[in-house]
Amino acid sequence: MRKITAAITGIQGYVPDYILTNKELETLVDTNDEWITTRTGIKERRILKGEGLGSSDMGAEAIKGLLEKTKTKVEEIDLIICATATPDMIFPSTACVIADKIGATNCFAYDLMAACSGFLYSLATASKFIETGTYKKVVVVGSDKMSSIVDYTERSTCIIFGDGAGAVLLEPSEDGFGIQDSILKADGSGREFLHLKAGGSVKPSSHATVEAKEHFVFQDGQPVFKAAVKSMADVSEEIMNRNNLTADDVAWLVPHQANKRIIDATAKRMGVGEEKVMLNIQKYGNTTNGTIPLCLWEWESQLNKGDNIILAAFGGGFTWGSIYVKWAYNSNK
Ligand code: UT7
Repeated sequence: MRKITAAITGIQGYVPDYILTNKELETLVDTNDEWITTRTGIKERRILKGEGLGSSDMGAEAIKGLLEKTKTKVEEIDLIICATATPDMIFPSTACVIADKIGATNCFAYDLMAACSGFLYSLATASKFIETGTYKKVVVVGSDKMSSIVDYTERSTCIIFGDGAGAVLLEPSEDGFGIQDSILKADGSGREFLHLKAGGSVKPSSHATVEAKEHFVFQDGQPVFKAAVKSMADVSEEIMNRNNLTADDVAWLVPHQANKRIIDATAKRMGVGEEKVMLNIQKYGNTTNGTIPLCLWEWESQLNKGDNIILAAFGGGFTWGSIYVKWAYNSNK
């Protein structure tokens, strides 16, 4: 019997319409387009506006498009894993809400929280359900409404984040396509540099936590930046080495979009030229779990069956990792 691998057989993204430009941010905080562009590479980001809308709504839109595109019936979905750092609520899981919103009644569904590495953690987890032959159709969706936890009076964080979602369908392949290898890491001692202080079990929400602005992302940028540069480059190099891949063998690097300078450093260490690096941070900023699937979605028409693709991410936790994918299809260009 041939080994089953987990192939990505479809990809779909969703970004909200509202565009928050660097120019508009200049009216909110003491910043300027030049600083934001040179320090991060970001020009604009999307914001989900509208009462009562959350990460589940963007995730549901992405999955609806994915099902249509891949001609998959909603009742065929076995499992939905939602990677999110901005769940609709603490519970129930956003994945359950999404399943309800799209009418997926034959599946089980859960969230996976690994901050900006959540999409990779979820993809690796989902692949095991396929490789073992347990399930045939697993959807991984990364969705974050970062604007819900960003303080738009704090210039060092509000310029970075945006809202967005992306979803992939995983199915069994008997021809060796799909996820080949993954390296995932965690170091919780990094939590002091990137976290959300209140609203959890340690510090439940109160008037005092609201007044102290403790429901917004806290980030000490420099230590996070340094750890991200080292970790993303290390892990990407490691996955190439252990799969005997040279830079020439790699068709695409798909990095988490947190800061263009982190992306450039990772590509440099891998020896991969910028023409092979997917970069859309200028349009969307850091959408946390949306970044990697949004890149794949935008580049889908340029991907060819058999392409070696390296996905890499770093985020709060700290968490980080890299996944090696052999692309499974030629899209209808
Ligand atoms: O996705 C999850 C993982 N997150 C990351 O990977 C993010 C990693 N960190 C970063 O990308 C960068 O650290 C930031 C983009 C957050 C900040 O860039 P930086 O080059 O590390 O700047 P900094 O925080 O060291 O600040 C340098 C200066 C400071 O001024 P002084 O103290 O030198 O006078 C800041 O106050 O830049 C100032 N500054 C700004 N100036 C204009 C900070 N934010 C802004 C701003 N506009 N928006």
